Amino acid sequence: MIPVNELARGFKLYQKEYEDRAVEVLRSGWYVLGKQMTSFEDEFAAKLGEGAICAGVDNGLDAITLGLMASGIGQGDEIIVQANGYIATMLGVMQCNAVPVFVEPDEYYQLDAAKIEEAITPRTKAVLVTHLYGQATRMDPIVKICNDRGLMLFEDCAQSHFAAYKGVNTGLFGKASFFSFYPTKNLGAFGDAGAVISKDPEVIEKVKVLRNYGSDRRYHNIKIGFNMRLDEMQAGLLRVRLSHMDELIANRCHIADRYLKEMHNPKIELPLVAEGCDHTWYQFIVRADDQEGFMAYMKEKDIATDISWRTPPYLQPCMQEEFGSGEGDHPITEELCAHIVTLPMMEYMDEDEITRVIEAVNGY
Ligand SMILES: Cc1ncc(COP(=O)(O)O)c(C=O)c1O
Repeated sequence: MIPVNELARGFKLYQKEYEDRAVEVLRSGWYVLGKQMTSFEDEFAAKLGEGAICAGVDNGLDAITLGLMASGIGQGDEIIVQANGYIATMLGVMQCNAVPVFVEPDEYYQLDAAKIEEAITPRTKAVLVTHLYGQATRMDPIVKICNDRGLMLFEDCAQSHFAAYKGVNTGLFGKASFFSFYPTKNLGAFGDAGAVISKDPEVIEKVKVLRNYGSDRRYHNIKIGFNMRLDEMQAGLLRVRLSHMDELIANRCHIADRYLKEMHNPKIELPLVAEGCDHTWYQFIVRADDQEGFMAYMKEKDIATDISWRTPPYLQPCMQEEFGSGEGDHPITEELCAHIVTLPMMEYMDEDEITRVIEAVNGY
């Protein structure tokens, strides 16, 4: 069976480097808030682009929570998010006692800028863009709306490490941006990890205080904080992966290139890439009229598929209970969830595997 993703492949690619780094961390005698973390913060920020400052945290959800809090988001603030986004984005908003307001996606599966205005109310504080599936969102119209309407702009970059819009990496457009390094991500750790990026030193300083019990120095607590720290082992291993990021993304682009050039089946709609938007192919999403039938057919061909995700966040039971949301609220999103299928995309697929996926799709 060709899996949708297989994490051990990514490990084996640079096994010796990972193992050496793990031993280095183990022998260092320092496991939390140390040199691996600060080095990773510096290296990640430097690679993202000019002005970026980084605070490492324990996962992507907490990056959202801490980054929003540190930017002043709080009780009752409305934050515009995309209806087909991942639930963690909304949970981060809700951890700040703010309210997610759902807006439909465009044909690239990204937040539809044309639909933002109608969602703005006097309580709207910010737009939180999620660059979904590895593709950068078209930012110009969103930046303009935020500037014109006095809204803050945030980015959830959990799926878009180093995907650029018009040459600028995602994560550098707004007040703060949030990264997950969950193991499946293009920049993935070997456990949970995340980061907040901002060009505003004050936001990053606040995140650093909040992530460490609210303390600005040892045994001195100025905020009601959390324990949301990035540990040395994950930071050290992330530095290895970060050093290979360009080749890892290039490899995903090669797989996607072959899929896009060689898949020809009118029953399967291939993903669109917007002009000026890099796609780093965190996931390769197609659309099929008969989602279940196509997935069953692929399984017969010994190829795994998945759905990211079958139920939109606002239809999850907890969200329906919280907001009274229900079926039919966002028809574009619901139509999408009923038809999208994730094809295999991972760190190193050999050419035969890529060919098998293409031939299976073409034979459907
Ligand atoms: C878009 C998006 N936001 C946030 C998260 C949450 O990240 P984490 O799993 O590290 O908490 C994820 C993924 O897991 C994600 O895909």
